[in-house]
Amino acid sequence: MYAQMVKTDAARVRSLDEMEPHERAFQERVDAGQKIEPKEWMPEGYRKTLVRQISQHAHSEIVGQLPEGNWISRAPTLERKAILLAKVQDEAGHGLYLYCAAETLGISRDQMYEQLHSGKAKYSSIFNYPTLTWADIGAIGWLVDGAAIMNQVPLQRCSYGPYARAMVRICKEESFHQRQGFDALARMVKGTPAQKAMVQDALNRWWWPSLMMFGPSDDASVHSAQSMAWKIKQNSNDELRQKFVDQTVPQAKYLGLTVPDPDLKWNEEKGGHDFGEPDWEEFFNVIAGNGPCNAERLDARKKAWSDGAWFRDGLTAHAEKAADRRAAAKIAAE
Ligand code: 3HC
Repeated sequence: MYAQMVKTDAARVRSLDEMEPHERAFQERVDAGQKIEPKEWMPEGYRKTLVRQISQHAHSEIVGQLPEGNWISRAPTLERKAILLAKVQDEAGHGLYLYCAAETLGISRDQMYEQLHSGKAKYSSIFNYPTLTWADIGAIGWLVDGAAIMNQVPLQRCSYGPYARAMVRICKEESFHQRQGFDALARMVKGTPAQKAMVQDALNRWWWPSLMMFGPSDDASVHSAQSMAWKIKQNSNDELRQKFVDQTVPQAKYLGLTVPDPDLKWNEEKGGHDFGEPDWEEFFNVIAGNGPCNAERLDARKKAWSDGAWFRDGLTAHAEKAADRRAAAKIAAE
């Protein structure tokens, strides 16, 4: 039912023969693996798709700081606190690189924030779930950053230069994030039975939302076909979800944990795991704004924006005064 609701009239990908000459030349450059740079001609749909995806990605990094930031003051050791602080700071940096990449497409940062605050722009569904225990912080690193890397490594080969280049550093840092999460859980599962149970509980709650991070199934994905033709995306949502499951299941086994999916089993013939269907009704409900923490997350971002008004005003006043001083000095020198 939800597949039909979402994929109403997916854009059909046009063949080279159906394109105007300048559009065909653009597509041929993309097909040849050339990077598209900000000042070059691009189809309006390509520009809009990138603004949508990159800004949503940037918002995900910024909103993604909230569930983890919540645990900085409660980290169990100084070492874990320092690691978590560094990770949350990294996410802010990722947001900034991505906002800069989106700005090269002609949208301002204020416009992007406005779209986030008004609910017009999405951010990753995963950040609308609560972090209830310390094990959730390990699970976010292991599963959420693990899923993010699976999705983002191919984005380093995206056809749009500024996005592809931003992803290089982001992927390096995400890889550290994933490992620190796994390391935290690997220590906890060797602790008391209560600690191990806490890790299992975190896996139970984060497994399915992590699979949903890859987006709806391919038959419900509105944008995938065109985005893949433009080489913005290199893989479909289901391909990446499959790779994530295949990579993560042995890690869960190593930790001595049970993946909460009764349909999970190795399929020798396909060389991968068969697994159950995520609850797509829940997914669409969360991205429509009705997840457990959507309102809280948006309120936190809106508050940060209004709390920062004095600082933005100060910067503007300073820039105006500096411009006046430069103009006065120029007149005096003439
Ligand atoms: N959360 C919220 N919205 C989602 C979603 C998710 N997990 N998956 C899909 N959607 C939305 C899409 O944005 C689209 O809505 P829109 O038309 O209003 O924009 C709709 O559902 C249909 O989905 P499609 O599959 O057609 O959309 P895409 O082709 O854009 O694919 C995507 C979705 C795979 C998420 C793709 O946009 C993508 O690869 N984005 C870049 C990566 C990204 O944004 N990652 C965020 C992860 S979190 C993170 O990086 C932070 C780190 O610290 C962990």
